[in-house]
Amino acid sequence: SHGNWFCGFWVGLLLTGYLHTRDETYLKLAHDRMVLVEERAEDGNTHDIGFIFLSSAMPFYRITGDERYRRIALRAADKLRSRLVVTDSGSYVSSWGPMNDPRGRAASAIDTMANIPLLYWAAKEADDASFRLAAQAHAEMTMLSFARQDNTQYHAVEYDTKTGQRLRGYTFQGAHDESYWSRGTGWAVMGLTTTAANSGNSAYLAQAIAISERWFESLGDKPVPPYDFDAIGDSIPEDSSASAIMAAGLLDLADLHPDKAVALQWRGKAEWLIEGLCKEYLATEGSHRGILKHGCYSEPHKIGPDAAVLFGDYFFAEALARMAFPGRFIERYDRVS
Ligand code: GLY
Repeated sequence: SHGNWFCGFWVGLLLTGYLHTRDETYLKLAHDRMVLVEERAEDGNTHDIGFIFLSSAMPFYRITGDERYRRIALRAADKLRSRLVVTDSGSYVSSWGPMNDPRGRAASAIDTMANIPLLYWAAKEADDASFRLAAQAHAEMTMLSFARQDNTQYHAVEYDTKTGQRLRGYTFQGAHDESYWSRGTGWAVMGLTTTAANSGNSAYLAQAIAISERWFESLGDKPVPPYDFDAIGDSIPEDSSASAIMAAGLLDLADLHPDKAVALQWRGKAEWLIEGLCKEYLATEGSHRGILKHGCYSEPHKIGPDAAVLFGDYFFAEALARMAFPGRFIERYDRVS
């Protein structure tokens, strides 16, 4: 397999293992796997190039200082930027498929918000503002087109590629087109927070907070949500990855917030989610194929509806690494302090 959108997460997990143990075996395994993952830096057919290299080449570069990984991440950022669709009323990064496929060109997903930090990083590394402008344009159009009045989000949007008008909001992995897919909010928080950090526009931070508050209201007192807050039925799968992703996004939010007391509250919420995952969702059975139990890749397609998911394990480990070794694993933006 070419590794789908998961292949970088395995490298990232190995790197957290290295930071934790300082055992070079992890670094060597990560290095060997990276040879395969690197091939994807030329894959301009998907926004997943962001997930892949934010979780692999970027932390690799931070940890080892090896220029090779910086160059790989910059190549990937170039491909991601080339997915920008410019319309009469704004621009967005298309999510799926070749850019000459009209259906793919018209589609954007909330997940893309988690990929644009690669563009912000590249803007600084390459000293090329066009990366930043592309990311910011995407965040602005997403803020307008994906947000519902009640601070929930569509999973995906189909645009008119000429006018930029939203033709419809819909879902792939949620319960139905108008439902509240729980994993999407964490993706949105990452993109909004990095956009606030790179643009200096606090409206993005305010929206990240509004959608996070709404997410916690829906969550109640459990550390893990159902895969979709609007799903109905007798046995609704949970999604532990949604909490891991949300925790990672909230660490970004807390690091950025200028009011220390508010920042502490959001960090506390991130820690509460991670603590809940540690206490109730950590796999202890040797037969379990991952770190966290009860992740949900896609309930509608019945793909891993109650399973270990690599992205859940990665963002769980990412959050832990950032708590244990601040600044050493990954930062989605340069910290203000
Ligand atoms: N493709 C991102 C997700 O499933 O959340």
